[in-house]
Amino acid sequence: MNKQRSNDLRLGVNIDHVATVRNARGGPHPDPVRAALMAQKAGADGITAHLREDRRHISDLDIERLRRDIDIPLNFEMAATEEMLGIALAQKPHAACIVPEKREERTTEGGLDAAGGHNQLSPIVRQLSDAGIRVSLFIEADERQLDAAVLLGAAVVELHTGTYCEAWLNGDMEAFERERARIAAAAEAGVARGLEVHAGHGLTYDTVQPIAAIPAIKELNIGHFLIGEGIFIGLDVAMREMRQLMDEARQSAMEKISS
Ligand code: PXP
Repeated sequence: MNKQRSNDLRLGVNIDHVATVRNARGGPHPDPVRAALMAQKAGADGITAHLREDRRHISDLDIERLRRDIDIPLNFEMAATEEMLGIALAQKPHAACIVPEKREERTTEGGLDAAGGHNQLSPIVRQLSDAGIRVSLFIEADERQLDAAVLLGAAVVELHTGTYCEAWLNGDMEAFERERARIAAAAEAGVARGLEVHAGHGLTYDTVQPIAAIPAIKELNIGHFLIGEGIFIGLDVAMREMRQLMDEARQSAMEKISS
């Protein structure tokens, strides 16, 4: 099902909000693992799931089932806590993306302070890496945070695209372009430091292409929009549409570079 692509931009599908809908009623339906299997069949390169401290969507059992049932890489989103570290070390996902987490927030509102949190993050990054789990830090597009990620020994950074997407929603095209340029510069600076660079948060059909066109970015993680759109057209159709937009943008960026 995975069509051959002319570039290596991966799509990770975040299935948290299938669990949000399930938990609204407390039963087993809709099942996020079924959504992950559907995404896998439709060509997702990976599945992302965030086990929050308050278990508001994904549950511990969901993570166990994802580990058992999916064949593509699992990106385990986690706060930098002892509890989450223990679960990651027990479940051994392909990757762990460390995110800041506040109980009162609706979603992950900003990037991790990798610079200010060095002492807390350092042993967690080390233990995850020693266990063979690829560590990613969800940070703002900021050189200070990139330097901190390198110092911590993270293999990957995921750049927070929330402010960029907010600017689009607010119709502020100046801020939208400014944020895009900030993300592009940070992506290049990340690669120059030897980091693999991902991006995500709030991406939609309207906002994905300028980010997909940044050659330094290797993976986009997208959840809420795809799950929401899936209600109307099916998750697999929504995903294929997203992938096509990503591929078109990347392809034309690569063509511009080589011409
Ligand atoms: N990447 C990270 C690190 C996230 O925390 C989230 C949200 O859970 C996403 C990507 C996906 O964001 P969205 O659901 O807005 O597409």
